[in-house]
Amino acid sequence: MEWKALSPEIKHIIDALQLYQLKSVIIDSRIICVTRLEDGIFGIQNSCPHAGAQLHHGQCNRRGIVGCPLHGYKFDMKTGKSADGNNYKIKHYPFKLEDDILFIKL
Ligand code: FES
Repeated sequence: MEWKALSPEIKHIIDALQLYQLKSVIIDSRIICVTRLEDGIFGIQNSCPHAGAQLHHGQCNRRGIVGCPLHGYKFDMKTGKSADGNNYKIKHYPFKLEDDILFIKL
């Protein structure tokens, strides 16, 4: 995994996120569901492993748990792990800000 600097356009989209708002962004050909939590920006793969729903159409709660819009499976935005015992583990992507440049770990 390596840190990749994001373009100003992507940073602008992410900067505009409200707390717990979900949005899909394309980074390096990956479609990533991003949100803003109280301690930073976090991303997970946008495609639900159960039946392929787009997770950014779901809901994120204050603990960073995203519920899939189709059947409600829950995933942790910070770890990509199942948050309801569904046994799926999905890709997750940390972000960091340095000198006003936003990086993602891919
Ligand atoms: S597609 Fe996400 S829980 Fe079924």
